[in-house]
Amino acid sequence: MSFFDRKSIRQLFEQRPTNETLTVRGWVRTVRASKNVTFIELNDGSTLTNLQIVIGAGEAEKIQNLKYVQTGASLIVTGKITHSQAKGQPIEMIPEQLEIAGEALPEYPLQKKRHSFEYLREIAHLRPRTNTFGVMNRFRSKIAWCIHEFFRAHDFYYIHSPIISNNDAEGAGEVFHVSTFSPYETSPRKPDPVNDFFGLPTVLTVTGQLQAEALALALGNVYTFGPTFRAENSNTARHLSEFWMIEPEMAFADLDDDLEVIEAFVRAQCRFALDECTEEMAFFDQWIAKGRLELIRKIADSKFQRITYTEAIDILSKATVTFEQKPEWGMDLKTEHERFLAEKHFNGPVFVTDYPFELKAFYMKVNDDRKTVAAVDLLVPEVGEIVGGSQREHRYDMLIESMEKKHVPCDVLEWYLDLRKDTTTPHAGFGLGFERMLMYLSGMQNIRDVIPFPRTPKNCKF
Ligand code: 4AD
Repeated sequence: MSFFDRKSIRQLFEQRPTNETLTVRGWVRTVRASKNVTFIELNDGSTLTNLQIVIGAGEAEKIQNLKYVQTGASLIVTGKITHSQAKGQPIEMIPEQLEIAGEALPEYPLQKKRHSFEYLREIAHLRPRTNTFGVMNRFRSKIAWCIHEFFRAHDFYYIHSPIISNNDAEGAGEVFHVSTFSPYETSPRKPDPVNDFFGLPTVLTVTGQLQAEALALALGNVYTFGPTFRAENSNTARHLSEFWMIEPEMAFADLDDDLEVIEAFVRAQCRFALDECTEEMAFFDQWIAKGRLELIRKIADSKFQRITYTEAIDILSKATVTFEQKPEWGMDLKTEHERFLAEKHFNGPVFVTDYPFELKAFYMKVNDDRKTVAAVDLLVPEVGEIVGGSQREHRYDMLIESMEKKHVPCDVLEWYLDLRKDTTTPHAGFGLGFERMLMYLSGMQNIRDVIPFPRTPKNCKF
């Protein structure tokens, strides 16, 4: 039988091929044996629901290795699909043949029904086999499809920006260095960029944006979807050292166009989650964050609010709550301010635009007031900032001026400056943090639980 003729448990539940003899492959969730009957709950990772394998008293002798079937074992079971009498499951399997592909030890860690998320992070290689992380990993995959579908439908090209870079585009200085010089070598070889692999200092990229700009200025509308790396020492529930970012870049676009695309993009993901991820969203609504379905429904249909940074400071200054850091023009908005705006004041997603020049990266277009830049952050309740973007500075002289003021070396970014030198094009783009979006859609409280193998300070075990 061809690999592609195999049926997953999800397909069996959909198609309900009763009276057909089929083979399923999966991992034992539980085994319940009584005098007359044994039930094996088998899950193959294709869906949340287990397939129940039912072995009657008279049948047990025929299935010789039944006594070795334990929680966690991997099985290949051939049997007949029948209607189930049990509540909540349309079909079950009466096995004819049962092969144990891999036995499980009695100390297999996933014996209990429920484990804390903290414990499951310690066994990140096994947690995808639990209900919550099975759902989450399938959800992650589906939302990624939706992202590609969205851009395909709007004529954007998917491009690949490099992982190894020679610059810290965001200017925060929080980078991982890339070198063939081992820090662990006993012979004292000092780091030496000139004699290192690339002949200059290199880092893991913090953003694919700068290269995406070059591609947008050739192909029109493009997007990247890849891992980015930040060595910031932020041990919070919203920060990862390695996270995935979607970075669209549009030629002949300004800040208004940017906002229009961001809003359509975020709403498309909400709509897709509601329409195409019904099992996952129902699970989140029941087990992770009550009321999530309603909230995402509201976002999918609502118009996002829009204010400038100056207006945001004004709202915060007049608020009757006491902030740890007093709101003042020129300061970076802290989580407490972002949450107040999105949760209390607007009670929904809000765009904050036109931030002070000093707060933002060198590549953002300077506004006519010369004090602010054409930047945008999208803030949402609970998670805070999920998108950061801007219209790009496309004027050569202005870009040089910004780079000088922000001490960004022009020599390593000569090619980037070149894009504005002989000819130039207005353009804009943004970055959506994939994990923050997944947190928002699912209601999951900790970013470490929406990525299979999280990287955070002092944590790179798996
Ligand atoms: O605002 P950021 O730093 O923007 C950029 O990197 C731009 N180059 C994007 C662009 O214009 N093409 O990051 C964008 C988003 C944030 O809004 C947030 O959702 C996410 O990336 N993000 C993180 N997610 C998880 N862990 C971290 N440490 C993150 N830092 C940023």
